[in-house]
Amino acid sequence: MNILLAGAAGQLGQELLPRLQQLGQVTQVDRIAAPGDVATRVQDLDDMNRVEILLNRMRPDVIVNAAAYTAVDLAEDHSAMAFRINSDLPGCMARWSERNGRTLVHYSTDYVFDGDADKPYTEKDATGPLGVYGESKLAGELAIAESRCRHIILRTSWVYSGHGNNFVLTMLRLARERPSLSIVNDQVGCPTWARNLAAATQSVIEKIASNGGRQPPWGVYHYCDGGAVSWYEFAHMIFRLAREAGLLDRLPEMKSVRSSDFPQKARRPLNSVLDTSEICREFGIEPAGLERSLKACIGEMAEHEKK
Ligand SMILES: NC(=O)c1ccc[n+]([C@@H]2O[C@H](COP(=O)([O-])OP(=O)(O)OC[C@H]3O[C@@H](n4cnc5c(N)ncnc54)[C@H](OP(=O)(O)O)[C@@H]3O)[C@@H](O)[C@H]2O)c1
Repeated sequence: MNILLAGAAGQLGQELLPRLQQLGQVTQVDRIAAPGDVATRVQDLDDMNRVEILLNRMRPDVIVNAAAYTAVDLAEDHSAMAFRINSDLPGCMARWSERNGRTLVHYSTDYVFDGDADKPYTEKDATGPLGVYGESKLAGELAIAESRCRHIILRTSWVYSGHGNNFVLTMLRLARERPSLSIVNDQVGCPTWARNLAAATQSVIEKIASNGGRQPPWGVYHYCDGGAVSWYEFAHMIFRLAREAGLLDRLPEMKSVRSSDFPQKARRPLNSVLDTSEICREFGIEPAGLERSLKACIGEMAEHEKK
């Protein structure tokens, strides 16, 4: 299998690489390569003519698109760029896949919802993004669906890993710098280790490849690690596990605040919890479990620091 991995240097992209390499020949593409990485083909994916040329040259069997404009607040002022990467790019990949009978795997977000529901969101629930980032990701989903290509879109939430920009790394840095921290307590979501999302992606592609003619229903599926928590509760778990792993000398004092006490440019959904029953039913993929996953990720960080 010939696989194109776009966004290879991002936090999900780096976790996807070893998984996808178990399935076939992977070509990695990103705007810049990860530190020490000489294999990534460096190409800006914001020019759709050049993306078409790349696809025609490579002719991948499967495109895995982890490239995205993920700066939620900056997107409010840079909507053209956010839409180009989050909507035009997957749309271009989808139309190419449809014309050439190939498969596209793409990622989307809990931010397509308004967060007003009082239950976990299913794939059938109405969308209603609160900001430009969510709007641009939703536009990407719709562009893919309109193309009618064979596609799987994995919506996920609150992604973290040992590298990149994420809440776990930010909390660990702040806990070392400051004696006390204020953390939002009225937004609830399901933190997801990028490695588990990469494993779910591998399972989905394997199932599609080995399905003997019976293809799964193409479309949108939710994957997150399960275990709904507020940012405050998540931070508490991070500090406890990091202290146990020897990454923190002391626990910071924590103050619980509301979103309104912590103004940000883009509004966030208060409820970001995703229902994952559909991906379990169709692909047999279960949520990996929040605390177990976070503990493993923090354990790896501690090992890495010791070296
Ligand atoms: N992070 C989360 O909490 C979260 C939550 C829900 C859903 N998701 C979705 O999950 C997927 C993976 O996210 P992630 O956390 O891995 O994001 P990430 O770490 O920001 O990775 C995205 C990658 O895409 C690259 N990229 C951006 N613009 C590009 C361009 N013009 N040309 C080529 N590459 C470009 C980025 O490069 P630069 O770093 O140079 O910009 C980065 O390497 C995305 O679809 C995202 O929307 C993420």
